[in-house]
Amino acid sequence: MINKADVLLGLQWGDEGKGKIVDVLTPNYDIIARFQGGPNAGHTLEFNGIKHVLHTIPSGIFHPTAINVIGNGVVIDPVIFKKEIEALLKLGVDVKSKLLISTRAHLILPSHRLLDAASEAAKGKNKIGSTLKGIGPTYMDKTGRNGLRIGDIETNEFKEKYDTLVEKHKQILSFYNYEYNLQELEPIWFEAIEFLKQLQFSETEHYINSAIKDGKRVLAEGAQGSLLDVDFGSYPFVTSSNTICAGACNGLGIPPNKIGNVIGIFKAYCTRVGSGPFPTELENETGEKIRQIGKEFGSTTGRPRRTGWLDIPALKYAVMINGVTELMMMKADVLSNFENIEVCTHYNYNGKVIDYLPYNIDPSYLKPITVALKGWAEDLTAIDNKSKLPQTLLEYIQFIEKTVEIPISIVSVGPDRTQTIRMK
Ligand code: GDP
Ligand code: IMO
Ligand code: MG
Repeated sequence: MINKADVLLGLQWGDEGKGKIVDVLTPNYDIIARFQGGPNAGHTLEFNGIKHVLHTIPSGIFHPTAINVIGNGVVIDPVIFKKEIEALLKLGVDVKSKLLISTRAHLILPSHRLLDAASEAAKGKNKIGSTLKGIGPTYMDKTGRNGLRIGDIETNEFKEKYDTLVEKHKQILSFYNYEYNLQELEPIWFEAIEFLKQLQFSETEHYINSAIKDGKRVLAEGAQGSLLDVDFGSYPFVTSSNTICAGACNGLGIPPNKIGNVIGIFKAYCTRVGSGPFPTELENETGEKIRQIGKEFGSTTGRPRRTGWLDIPALKYAVMINGVTELMMMKADVLSNFENIEVCTHYNYNGKVIDYLPYNIDPSYLKPITVALKGWAEDLTAIDNKSKLPQTLLEYIQFIEKTVEIPISIVSVGPDRTQTIRMK
């Protein structure tokens, strides 16, 4: 049998629990590789009573043997990255030998962050709700062919290239009439660049392809979620990269015919942080109850996450675009103590009932149609076996499997590594 890389990604608007599951699955893999996004991501892992939030570093870093790769599709802010690495070094994680960084990964400059803030301020009430990490402007410079990459750091022309790009940014900032102090930000950025030089820069596309050829097990880790994908998400309220499975091909250099399982992660309900349409949003007490029990506050920005019921047509859309072969349902424990759990199965779209996610999901065109399923009152957080799950939760799982037509292989019942139930 030909060896292939598996892909793990979020099927909703991010924060599905990807970090936890990558950490749980890492013992089955030799290499964990992030393929897109940057420090807009916040991937949370919990074990031995400690919580870790990773932004740029793949979620396999805490395991003793796995090699973690930051792929060419990722954008790196050296300052945030340095802090992340220092925190890991303090914990005794051998980051230097276990982490490879693609020479083709793009750098987020301090002026990219300023541009992000200026662009959001100019949009006013139409702002994207960006994490303000400079993600959009950095990917714009990548596709505009102006960007700086990790591989440039070791060249003699690095500072010159930096200055040229910053000059361009200054012109745009003055167009925005945006006040800033770049001099304050630059020294720590260059200090972080120096710090990065002790890490392993690598042509990771060669490394990963050789590993696949040699029978090594590779897991590609996505950031954000499919509904934030720049092509297929709720544009323009999206991030600036391809968060979908195809993103693992161009963000790591894995050919499409070398993709094996596609693991889709979703919450038992929905959340969204930032602006944009959210068909099943609950702007009421029920939504607040989910937010409080689920601790739905952003891992990167601390912003309250918007909450709502599970949206099946949106989930089916994400499954279709990604070619999902296996589902994992997170945060089932949060739904204990709801007498009824609603699930959106169809939409009313301009007066017509439809069962798919259309182009326009603006609330003035699209309303969710839900069915109510019976909830469960049992606390799930101490359950360690499928046989102990409440019957109504099993019915909820079966309902999703039947409508989405993909099996659910893991149900998560708490943030800790151990609170993970294998369904097969
Ligand atoms: P990611 O961005 O997809 O990695 O997800 P985040 O880490 O941003 O958000 C998921 C949050 O839910 C984190 O605080 C996790 O610790 C937490 N979490 C993950 N799985 C579960 C679960 O099954 N139950 C509960 N209650 N929390 C969970
Ligand atoms: P993880 O990997 C949830 C959202 C922002 C905003 C939009 C654009 O933790 O799931 P950006 O900073 O990318 O320009 O913001 O995307 N967003 C996320 N929401 N989880 C994330 O990552 C996100 N990364 C970006 O809130 O609405
Ligand atoms: Mg997150």
